[in-house]
Amino acid sequence: MARILTGIQSSGKPHLGNILGAIKPAIALSKKEGNESFFFIADMHSLTTIKDSRLRKENVNAVAAAWLAFGFDTTKNVFYRQSRIAACTELAWYLSCFTSYVMLVNAHSFKDKAGINKWDVLNVEEANTYSFKDKASKRSGINAGLINYPVLMAADILLYDADYVPVGKDQKQHLEMTRNMASSFNHQFGETFVIPEVIINEEVMTIPGTNGQKMSKSYGNSIDVFLPEKKLRKNVMQIVTDSTPLEEPKNPDTCNIFAIYQLLASEDRVADMKKKYKGGNYGYGQAKQELFELLLEKFTEEREKYQYYMDNLTELEAELKKGEEKAVEIAQNVLERVKTKLGFS
Ligand code: ADP
Ligand code: TRP
Repeated sequence: MARILTGIQSSGKPHLGNILGAIKPAIALSKKEGNESFFFIADMHSLTTIKDSRLRKENVNAVAAAWLAFGFDTTKNVFYRQSRIAACTELAWYLSCFTSYVMLVNAHSFKDKAGINKWDVLNVEEANTYSFKDKASKRSGINAGLINYPVLMAADILLYDADYVPVGKDQKQHLEMTRNMASSFNHQFGETFVIPEVIINEEVMTIPGTNGQKMSKSYGNSIDVFLPEKKLRKNVMQIVTDSTPLEEPKNPDTCNIFAIYQLLASEDRVADMKKKYKGGNYGYGQAKQELFELLLEKFTEEREKYQYYMDNLTELEAELKKGEEKAVEIAQNVLERVKTKLGFS
């Protein structure tokens, strides 16, 4: 049996890009015969950037409700919050004592967040300068948690003897670091950790946002499928278009509305909309209305389920608790294995 594990940061409400790019493919993988999936909410990772506890809690609920709404089966699989697994921070400390600081400071995602050019390779002195001196305003928010982020992530994975870890391309380097930490520990102390394989789904395309750029929380260009009807319509109406007059033919291939529509609609409907674009007398407002109706139709059940969980937080809590016990038990076992090797047992 293969053990699949992945974490989802609770950094906001999941948008259409997260749903098509991460949630749906991961749930499909969890449904495959012989796979056992561990999906958790990386709420401790989100503490590196979100300090408001109420907001973090709301995000945890939104992320959990979205996964359940899209059919993640918490009876067959293990679903939990990272912050409930005390062994995770303990293992992260042990691993950090075997991890090169310079490697962490040179991680792409850290440099990105710290405003450091990704091609700059920092030596120890430069690394110290970047992390301890407040050189520029963007760097004032750098906390040690951001630097240690990949170590906590390695603990998340190694604690459960995970075989496969599906992630987006941006997480590839973190997985390489995890493998690196596990191998060097094994080399020094003998077989302790399972070395995980990364799964990067190259086929999953980048979903464009309302302005045509990659849809992302940080670009403010998301389509939030879980919004109430009126607000969702407003959200769709924000899609940026050119100013071709209503009566003139339009190019579907350069249109942001069409780009999203074609990801969701059937072939026939896509062909039909294409024809309307090319035929003229078809306005962007009408195309937006069709996309809005399609979103409602396509996600009726998921929207209802999401709202159900958000209105019944006790039930949502019960779902998150279900996996916790099993996760704690497995994590504790692996932790004991590590502590024995380190002489702490
Ligand atoms: P965001 O960019 O909104 O902050 P995250 O970085 O939290 O999103 O991504 C969570 C997951 O959703 C990752 O697996 C990522 O690959 C996927 N994802 C995010 N945005 C998109 C997108 N526009 N298209 C496809 N997948 C996406
Ligand atoms: N860092 C990941 C992200 O931002 C989330 C994450 C945390 C994760 N721990 C993990 C992913 C362990 C896979 C395995 O998307």
